[in-house]
Amino acid sequence: MQSGLHVAIIMDGNGRWATQRGRPRLVGHRAGAEAVRRVVRGAPRLGIGTLTLYAFSGDNWERPITETTGLMRLFGNYLRRETAELADRGVRLRIIGRRDRLPGELLRAVDAAEATTAAGTALDLRIAIDYSGRDALVLAALRARGAIGEPLDRDHFAWHLGQAMHAEGRAHDVDLMIRTGGEQRLSDFLLWECAYAELMFSPKMWPEWTAGDLAAAVADFQMRERRFGRLPAMETVA
Ligand code: IPE
Ligand code: IPE
Ligand code: MG
Repeated sequence: MQSGLHVAIIMDGNGRWATQRGRPRLVGHRAGAEAVRRVVRGAPRLGIGTLTLYAFSGDNWERPITETTGLMRLFGNYLRRETAELADRGVRLRIIGRRDRLPGELLRAVDAAEATTAAGTALDLRIAIDYSGRDALVLAALRARGAIGEPLDRDHFAWHLGQAMHAEGRAHDVDLMIRTGGEQRLSDFLLWECAYAELMFSPKMWPEWTAGDLAAAVADFQMRERRFGRLPAMETVA
């Protein structure tokens, strides 16, 4: 597992960004892929070791088929186009979420991208596709039930959770959770991992996000005092 910060982003607002410009929603998703590119390039120099991006939720299958099909095609294109550069930059890519509902063509692109970038050490990039935090917990519980005779505590459960979502190793606590697009909710993302995450909400639509926005978010995070249930550092001395 990577050292460094774990930042997670709910990349929201693609559809509204496009609609505001009188364009089809898929144009917004395409612009969103460009924002992913900018943010991924900027992340390593900000002390981020793991970046987890929410690209498609389990509930997003409820959208019209033209949008879901378009998104699946876009994900495949992104992987095919970006893999070589990610590998050059030392980015290790993993797709987290369910895989059994993804189109075969996308799965092949996922396998190729993961294999090509496996040796990367500069950044763990995890893209959540067909991801649901609640489904992840249920699948982890099923795995835990199958591991008869093993102790079941937080550490073991976090391991099952990581495995259930095809992550490498155990589920990894989030330090900073960002949501763009103005809404202030989790929408079923990383429920276990966000137990003590710092939350940040940006009114900007995701296609407008830049590496500078990410740098500002990390700077804001660095100013916060995380207590994990304890007393503030100054009062502990008294
Ligand atoms: C987030 O943007 C990307 C996905 C959920 C795939 P949206 O598509 O939710 O954009 P808005 O919220 O409708 O603007
Ligand atoms: C969450 O956004 C999922 C992603 C950003 C991929 P949604 O736009 O689907 O969330 P809700 O429906 O507004 O809660
Ligand atoms: Mg949305």
